[in-house]
Amino acid sequence: MPPPRARTFVFESLAGFDDEALHTFLTPGDGGVDPRRLGVALHGADHDELAARVLRALPEQAAAAVAAARAEPSPSEAVEEARRHVVGRLFWALLYWHDPDGYEELVAGEHIHPGLLDSLDLDGRVVADLGAGAGRFTLFAARHAARVIAVDAVPALLQRLEQHARQQGLANIETRRGNFTHLPLGDASVDVAVACSSLASQAPWGGEEALREAQRIVRPGGELIVIWPDNPQWFIARGFVYRTVPDADQLSLHFDSIEAAERICREFYSEDAAGWVREHRAESVPFAVLGMRPPSDACVWRQADDRPT
Ligand SMILES: C[S@@+](CC[C@H](N)C(=O)[O-])C[C@H]1O[C@@H](n2cnc3c(N)ncnc32)[C@H](O)[C@@H]1O
Repeated sequence: MPPPRARTFVFESLAGFDDEALHTFLTPGDGGVDPRRLGVALHGADHDELAARVLRALPEQAAAAVAAARAEPSPSEAVEEARRHVVGRLFWALLYWHDPDGYEELVAGEHIHPGLLDSLDLDGRVVADLGAGAGRFTLFAARHAARVIAVDAVPALLQRLEQHARQQGLANIETRRGNFTHLPLGDASVDVAVACSSLASQAPWGGEEALREAQRIVRPGGELIVIWPDNPQWFIARGFVYRTVPDADQLSLHFDSIEAAERICREFYSEDAAGWVREHRAESVPFAVLGMRPPSDACVWRQADDRPT
């Protein structure tokens, strides 16, 4: 279910993506947009230009499914339903792209458990941060690692990351735009690849192809670490080991003020969570109240030492 804030976007917000982002976010997958419903959503001559861009951006088979669905007649309710589907599936991508400040405000209070971060061995390593966003993990890693290469699909977030790095005097970070399925990194080129609240179990936010690609860039004996995985069992079934910080149940999401806590809970979580803030007059909201696992776990995979490079 997309959060209530999804209502601030409309189907036409897709036109703001550049062609590379259309390709990244519209390539079909279990967690993504259904091509047939995308074709229905693109009905109407006023969407000709967006439709042409979408068709160019998509893989051949998906483009054919979009074009076929667009050519079939559809009642207006079906078109509206299809548009809601597309916006719902793309909510996070639309937020990163159109409102990076809103996204940063949300994650500013979402601290990865310090015990989990301290357990990572990054000293002197070359680290890739996959789906780095505005740098929540990159900025931490750069204080320990020799070098951090931060990859993300959204340039506006990488620009924020660069700005934070400058403000914090961190000169060992390099940002690169890239897609999880085509990382701009060579084979076995990093000691540690980390995906923090990013690479997920379903395309286009992750999935099998993205996992193989993340594993490709890790040197023999190196590690791929998925922090706060969406679906730990999916990673465990693919050879990852699950790690969690004990006694993290009390972890909370922190905000600057009670007003910000209430507004952000209402926009991103639920009216119940906002009600909890009002009742408790609290600037910190336990993850349990939000119905979420706290950011205190990771799935870790190790590249075999004898893997040929
Ligand atoms: C929830 S944010 C997490 C950002 C950051 N790692 C953090 O912890 O704050 C997920 C990030 O993954 C990126 N992302 C999602 N799908 C992607 C893809 N297919 N290729 C590259 N980046 C992607 C998004 O642009 C976003 O910045």
